[in-house]
Amino acid sequence: NYYAILMAGGVGSRFWPVSTQDFPKQFHDMLGTGDTLIQKTFQRLTHLIPKENIYILTNERYNDLVLEQLPEVTQKQVVLEPAMRNTAPCILYASLKIQKENPDAVMIVAPSDHWIEDEATFSENVEQAFEFCSKNDALMTLGIQPTFPNTGYGYIEFDKISNDTIKAVNQFREKPDYETAKDFIAQGNFLWNAGIFMWSVKSVVAAFKNNQPKLYQHFEAGISAYNTEFEEDFIKENYPKAENISVDYAIMEKSKNVFVIAAEFDWNDLGTWGSLYDKLNKDINQNAVVNARTLVEDASGNMIRTKNDKIVVVDGLKDYIIVDKDEVLLIYPKTKEQDIKKVLQKVKGKF
Ligand code: GDD
Ligand code: MG
Repeated sequence: NYYAILMAGGVGSRFWPVSTQDFPKQFHDMLGTGDTLIQKTFQRLTHLIPKENIYILTNERYNDLVLEQLPEVTQKQVVLEPAMRNTAPCILYASLKIQKENPDAVMIVAPSDHWIEDEATFSENVEQAFEFCSKNDALMTLGIQPTFPNTGYGYIEFDKISNDTIKAVNQFREKPDYETAKDFIAQGNFLWNAGIFMWSVKSVVAAFKNNQPKLYQHFEAGISAYNTEFEEDFIKENYPKAENISVDYAIMEKSKNVFVIAAEFDWNDLGTWGSLYDKLNKDINQNAVVNARTLVEDASGNMIRTKNDKIVVVDGLKDYIIVDKDEVLLIYPKTKEQDIKKVLQKVKGKF
């Protein structure tokens, strides 16, 4: 009864110029290991879940990329979105489809673009969670020990007195402001939400029904069409009309039956060039190099990547992102990595 839905519809704009709207980061070999991020995620899940029960949720424009990179996946497992509406609509839609196929399904919802070091421990944690939500009406997340007041994550306050591996959650707060995040960390009983969820299809559908009745009705109206030849027409017409909202705001912040399992593995959401840099092997001067041959003089802390093993000579540069891709060459300070999104907009407006 185990299922997975893999979210692969994001654009990853802070990884420009490698990640683009036509070819987002989950379809790239960001780590230089020979596998793309979605391939790594898929392989990780096959230890827990039958291949044919792994669904890929993505924008319709990435259908070919998915089938090409995951040859074991059939078209039926690729859930196509005609518009980007963030994670709540696609999770609800896919959950209703799976529920129709198997009302007893228990599933994991996982982003397709994260880095997880210790796969065996990941599997153990997920199995514990699966067992718990097979028996309980629970919305479960994997929690990560926070290290700084990151305002780009969700925060999970767990019950201080409980010593169990699986802890009841007092509150789930998506993307708090800096002061609040600082305060949360000081309190000591907060974890970051890894964005990986586990629940029974029954529980997640009920959570949407109770907390997002409009969104629920919107997708429930198509139930007779799901998994039939009429599905495509319904979705083309109705998906773009769904509210644009993330699963964190839509159900996690509002539900009372949230539980967290403190992850025992190393995790990184690979959101920026800097977070990728942190995870890569470095040369003696702390430069991380992917797909390039480098001659480095007085340079350290740089993230260097080219497309085809180009020779890169760097001298006198510290903590920069150097990325060469087709018609774009980016040389940008690592400290301003969050602004790459804005730079991309400027470039689009100018050229
Ligand atoms: N299919 C599909 N469709 N996938 C999507 C869409 C969509 O419209 N929008 C985003 N995704 C995918 C992204 O590719 C990513 O893998 C995942 O869903 C999460 O989306 P993000 O946009 O990266 O979310 P976030 O980083 O702002 O926040 C989430 O992740 C954090 C951890 O990385 C939240 O769950 C936070 O609470 C969490 O801390
Ligand atoms: Mg993210």
